Amino acid sequence: MDNPDATPPGDALPGPAGDEARALEAVEHHHTAMVKRLEALTGSLIHAVKAGNAVDEHNTHGVLVEWCETDLVPHALAEEGSLYGGAGRTTEGRLLVEALLAEHQRIVGVIEELRVSSGVDAAVAAGTLRGLFALHLQTENRVLLPFLAGNPELSLAAAVEGLEELVGESQIHRGGAGRGGSV
Ligand SMILES: [Fe+2]
Ligand SMILES: [Fe+2]
Repeated sequence: MDNPDATPPGDALPGPAGDEARALEAVEHHHTAMVKRLEALTGSLIHAVKAGNAVDEHNTHGVLVEWCETDLVPHALAEEGSLYGGAGRTTEGRLLVEALLAEHQRIVGVIEELRVSSGVDAAVAAGTLRGLFALHLQTENRVLLPFLAGNPELSLAAAVEGLEELVGESQIHRGGAGRGGSV
């Protein structure tokens, strides 16, 4: 049975293994926050469209598109540098990274559809984006991050260090996701 009070793995492990575990937790945590935000913004837009409320639709559409531009796209671009770069240079990770890059392109395409659409079309684009993004993050959480954290040739902690787009603002203000928790 799970113990909800158990110490997170990253806090229990010393040295580089702890750095890797903490970095993995930080990125997963940021992914969860992003999915929740996207779900909330998408839900608000769909609700406004269903209700036929043009003012709410205009406002929620604007907030969602802005969040995509200021949070989602910068997150994807940051990943393509440090995270995907390291994994993509390995034999085992190359095809995974190609698939994830293709998903990024599709996500950016849907954001563009969302930006130029309105009414039911905008609601459909937002719903598509929500589903695509959730699936994409699942693959990153379950396959990419454990691969990076468990590969002795690569360092997830180094790849995300100082990057707010990947670990979120709170981790940066806590002094970084990777290093410093234990000696
Ligand atoms: Fe991604
Ligand atoms: Fe991601």
